[in-house]
Amino acid sequence: MNQEKDRARRREQPEPEEGTRPVPKVVSALLAGLVLWGSGYILWHAGWPLTGGDSRTPVVLQADEGVNGANLYANVCASCHQGNGRGVPGAFPPLADSAWVTGDPRIPVAIVHDGLQGPIEVAGERYQGAMPAFGGQLSAAEIAAVVSHVRNAWSNGAAEVSTDVVAGYRERFAERGPWTVDALRTELGGP
Ligand code: HEC
Repeated sequence: MNQEKDRARRREQPEPEEGTRPVPKVVSALLAGLVLWGSGYILWHAGWPLTGGDSRTPVVLQADEGVNGANLYANVCASCHQGNGRGVPGAFPPLADSAWVTGDPRIPVAIVHDGLQGPIEVAGERYQGAMPAFGGQLSAAEIAAVVSHVRNAWSNGAAEVSTDVVAGYRERFAERGPWTVDALRTELGGP
């Protein structure tokens, strides 16, 4: 019985040693190096502007950078009046060589702002369609830019329109429905 006890004790492994081995010198040196490098990096960069991980210059869009008449025309008008301003025969009237575009600037402003419906004759052709209003969707500066663009593009050669003209139009015709040719002639003296 006693012998049995002894055998069990002799089978035991010795207690493991703890805390007697120091951290290897290489590891300590590596750690010290990393700490030095890290704090040195932070100190070196103190006061540098925070530009993000890889220091790329962030792109900041200016508020008025988007107002570009040619871009607006391509995005808003060209689907109907076409990139070359010639429209689609029988459906969308041309803006190139159109007296409605190159005459009194308030007329294209009115058409873009509030839309147009009913019969209209453009460059000798009759059209009968409906153009949507853009006054709710474009700012005064954007309407001035896109109207200035169509007045000057495709050798139209008419003077540009200022934002004031659009602001003045808005003041006079607030909350108006789509224009007709008759109404344009009565109110603004269309061609
Ligand atoms: C959804 C198609 C459509 C879009 C988009 C459109 N128009 Fe029109 N536009 C028309 C139609 C259709 C007419 C003719 C309406 C009629 O028959 O009464 C017209 C007529 C005109 C006219 C007078 C007639 C002429 O040819 O000179 C002008 C000026 C004009 N549009 C300018 C513009 C401008 C500038 C834009 C962009 C801001 C624009 N339109 C966007 C369909 C469109």
